[in-house]
Amino acid sequence: MERTILATLQCPYTGSAITASGRSGSGSTLDYAVVTTEAGQFPVIAGILRLLTDDLQAPLVDLVERGEHALALKAALEVPFLSSKERMLDGTWRRMTQRWKPGYAALTGPKKSHLYRVLTEPDASFAEVARAAQAESWASWQTYRFSMPPFLPVYPLAHLAAGARRIFDFGCGLGHSAFLMKRLAPGAEVICADYSFTSMYLAKRFIIPEATCICLDGDFPLPFPEGHFDCTFSTDALQYIEPKIGIAREFRRTLAADGTLVLAHLHSRLSGIKAGKPLTPAGYHGLFDGMSRRIYPEDAIVSDYFEDGSLKLDRQFSAAEIDGAHSGISLIAGHDDRVFRRHEGLLDRYVDAMLHPAVNPAYQMNRTNGKAVLQRTVDAPYAVQRDVAGRQLLPNTWAVDGQPLGTKDLLGLRDARKDSLRELVRRLVVVDVPANYL
Ligand SMILES: C[S@@+](CC[C@H](N)C(=O)[O-])C[C@H]1O[C@@H](n2cnc3c(N)ncnc32)[C@H](O)[C@@H]1O
Repeated sequence: MERTILATLQCPYTGSAITASGRSGSGSTLDYAVVTTEAGQFPVIAGILRLLTDDLQAPLVDLVERGEHALALKAALEVPFLSSKERMLDGTWRRMTQRWKPGYAALTGPKKSHLYRVLTEPDASFAEVARAAQAESWASWQTYRFSMPPFLPVYPLAHLAAGARRIFDFGCGLGHSAFLMKRLAPGAEVICADYSFTSMYLAKRFIIPEATCICLDGDFPLPFPEGHFDCTFSTDALQYIEPKIGIAREFRRTLAADGTLVLAHLHSRLSGIKAGKPLTPAGYHGLFDGMSRRIYPEDAIVSDYFEDGSLKLDRQFSAAEIDGAHSGISLIAGHDDRVFRRHEGLLDRYVDAMLHPAVNPAYQMNRTNGKAVLQRTVDAPYAVQRDVAGRQLLPNTWAVDGQPLGTKDLLGLRDARKDSLRELVRRLVVVDVPANYL
């Protein structure tokens, strides 16, 4: 992490400054270091500032101070796909060993050594790493994230980051949404935050290496000064935060006077979706009292974008329409109403911004009757065919007429026949991915 960024941060627990200890050298970036605040010491591991106050805080600081960087990384990587039985065993093991050998348990829990080996494999792509983790649903969730149904509103909403100088992605997971925003705002500084260190590690290594990654708990105040971000973004995360009013006030405090707050894929309590602790649409609206805000049914946002590349934030939906939005809702807020305008041409802007277009990993090339066909090999919940204005998104099959579909070919297609590439993109048969994703 950049030393200059550290200087802008404040301790989430005390509001005090965060300073790197003398032993962390004098370079402009901190890879492995210890920082100090009024609340104690926190480690920087693999360039990720870890601001959590859990049973690992002290052992990790100790490992970093002793120069045991590989062990510090191994200890910090939590296994994201433990079964509930394994999680219980891990918790018991950690509590027991904590007394006589702090930090030891973090190096030895279930699946830990395997995960560490897989994640630090030097030449692997993200998809290879995910596959090698031997956790099928976790790997599928992450690999197919770019076209999973709950992720689709991110495509139009990411455009609200265009022109931003500083973007914050809260509860970013592996950073898929931050990746899209960075493509559309290439000059912006991006800060990603999530509770999961493993997600932050994968985000930094594979999805958005340019971002500053901070491992933090959204149940506490954010470590940023007032008015810090032009765009604060969060998708599929707020429902997992217990003190929602706390994070809502922090989003508001840290948003610039002309900034935009974008909350995509909020679960509605009226929808019956069980994951997390969702609020009713009125409940989410109430969190942002004092700000200008509107709520949109996610399906409308997705349909508008895939139909004609628009994002119609000037639309107003009735309470009944919003309450009936069972696949999810999005909330947009700002300090005034200027944000509620219509955006056009977003699909083309996405196509223009692509640097690494690829055939969606949900497809496989097959030959039937001598013809090349892309066949979708992944189903719900990772990929679901959907009709928008007579077009099928994620169709079961797509004939490719022998045209080559490597990244270079697709970039060439953009120059020669942009309409053809737009059609592939708008059906999610082609997606832009990080360079080392597949
Ligand atoms: C469903 S995932 C969404 C990830 C990402 N936004 C995406 O759409 O791909 C929810 C994320 O919220 C994070 N999260 C949950 N509780 C959190 C907390 N208290 N503080 C920070 N992040 C949290 C999780 O670690 C997880 O990465």
